[in-house]
Amino acid sequence: MRLAGKTALVTGAARGIGLELARTYIAEGATVALADINGEAVANAAAGLGPQAHGVRMDVTRQESIDAGFAEAIGRMGHLDILINNAALFTAAPIDEITRPDYDRIFAVNVSGTLFCMQAAARHMIGRGKGGKIINMASQAGRRGESLVAVYCASKAAVISLTQSAGLNLIAHGINVNAIAPGVVDGEHWDGVDAFFARYEGKAPGQKKAEVGAAVPFGRMGTAADLTGMAVFLATDEAKYIVAQCFGVDGGNWMA
Ligand SMILES: NC(=O)c1ccc[n+]([C@@H]2O[C@H](COP(=O)([O-])OP(=O)(O)OC[C@H]3O[C@@H](n4cnc5c(N)ncnc54)[C@H](O)[C@@H]3O)[C@@H](O)[C@H]2O)c1
Repeated sequence: MRLAGKTALVTGAARGIGLELARTYIAEGATVALADINGEAVANAAAGLGPQAHGVRMDVTRQESIDAGFAEAIGRMGHLDILINNAALFTAAPIDEITRPDYDRIFAVNVSGTLFCMQAAARHMIGRGKGGKIINMASQAGRRGESLVAVYCASKAAVISLTQSAGLNLIAHGINVNAIAPGVVDGEHWDGVDAFFARYEGKAPGQKKAEVGAAVPFGRMGTAADLTGMAVFLATDEAKYIVAQCFGVDGGNWMA
């Protein structure tokens, strides 16, 4: 087990990629706080993972909720070695239809949430003096713009940039900050993405999803399980010399 005795907090862990990462960390010996705005769903998810899982209701857009959520998680687990900033929202619209409330909503979760959860983890890790690991979920969307996806793409570009700055700043305290950039990952999130494209590109439900899957060089969409290897590796001491990087785990999608 590669994470025996370690503790981790995963945001947005009630479902999808965050839940799969929490499950894998527990299988590797870690104790994990699953944090999510959906308190009931995350409590159920944690209950399904056994005694090494703790469900914590946390809204990453509210500072008092971040403070309370980290305090609860650290109180229950004793300390925090690893943070995975995974919570995010998706949106899509042509430029002339983007609204300020939608922009604010996406940036509050994807950018401010990532930054201030990093800060909460870093303050604890610096105070403890034993270093740590922070992994931010970026996206291939953060590496280039997309015609209908300006706000989400910009938010994920900001996540990559925050990873670089925080990585350079926090390595002085032995805290490695890195990011993972998935491509297209099947799950409930992508059902929502598909609905946006059905609306704006006039596609039938499921059509966009089938098209993007067929276009991945590997031959299919990713699964949450495809991301666990990188997420575990970055949390181990094997990755201690890796600083401020963003790794594509996308079946070759971005390169293509
Ligand atoms: N699915 C993909 O194709 C894909 C591709 C690239 C990157 N990603 C990234 O991977 C991560 C996980 O994606 P997913 O597909 O599992 O998404 P998802 O929508 O299935 O899960 C996101 C979780 O975040 C939670 N959440 C939303 N707002 C929150 C808030 N304010 N505070 C706390 N939790 C909140 C939701 O309740 C949900 O449980 C995200 O950062 C996403 O941008 C996903």
